[in-house]
Amino acid sequence: MSIITKLAIAAGLATALSTAAFAQADLSGKVIGFSQIGSESGWRAAETSVTRSEAEARGVDLKFADAQQKQENQIKAIRGFIAQGVDAILVAPVVATGWDDVLTEAKEAEIPVVLLDRGVDAPEDLYLTSIASDQVLEGRVAGEWLVDAVAGEDCNVVELQGTVGSSPAINRKQGFEEGIASASNIKITQSQTGDFTRAKGKEVMEAFLKSSNGGADICAVYAHNDDMAVGAIQAIKDAGLKPGTDIKVVSIDAVPDIFTAIAAGEANATVELTPNMAGPAFDALAAYWADGTEPEKFIITESKLYTAENDPQGEYERRKGLGY
Ligand code: AHR
Repeated sequence: MSIITKLAIAAGLATALSTAAFAQADLSGKVIGFSQIGSESGWRAAETSVTRSEAEARGVDLKFADAQQKQENQIKAIRGFIAQGVDAILVAPVVATGWDDVLTEAKEAEIPVVLLDRGVDAPEDLYLTSIASDQVLEGRVAGEWLVDAVAGEDCNVVELQGTVGSSPAINRKQGFEEGIASASNIKITQSQTGDFTRAKGKEVMEAFLKSSNGGADICAVYAHNDDMAVGAIQAIKDAGLKPGTDIKVVSIDAVPDIFTAIAAGEANATVELTPNMAGPAFDALAAYWADGTEPEKFIITESKLYTAENDPQGEYERRKGLGY
């Protein structure tokens, strides 16, 4: 078992245990605002859906605000939640910077804030806890998978980055570079944002293919999420090449559609990101309200690698009803 697998299992176990310890606390009467980024990806849709059902299971009155990818809308929504006097605020921050003022306002109003799935560049005392994956590790797992997969052959990689300025785009880029650092045969030849969307992933991949001898000079695509990978797969097919064979595809999220692609041999690997960030968030809030227990500042979710060897059809079946 590789060290990464061991770390991922340990992190997953820790999360599962901490979740189990406070499972399904009754939060009836609590009003919690949730500032969601939008619906750019299947993963994001699942996170929204899981947050709603985790809230319902605990009796939380969830106030939902969709920011349509704009930080200004998130800031407006958070200010609205503060004005309403909610008991807590969940926020999935679209970008990493620019949060200090509004988080300070929440702190002054004594409303605990929990960050979901993305980090911020702000003082840690401005939020209660952050529930997210280790995004550098996610990129590293993807990079190390590629190192093994190409087994010393020369490999030009094109990279589809997430939203510019978002913590997953910054950290998954860094992690992948770390993962391939020991392999001088692997080079990132082109890297551009696809904004975490399927449509943009396809469009950017088309441009990469055009400028790389119709794709003949590309050995692999690394996408910061599965939706961009699915878009890239379509672009590769449209160019008359076989995704998964002519061009390897590795990405992050583990959404049902990528398992369909892996089962069909059109994608090679994905790193799982659980859409259940809200369960641990509600449990941390429940403990905090019960007796003042301060949660860990960073609650890290599991980052497990899946390939064709991990029953992709079964994984598809297990996830398909979760709101992706
Ligand atoms: O912050 C998590 C990322 O945001 C997911 O990997 C991506 O699909 C989403 O848009």
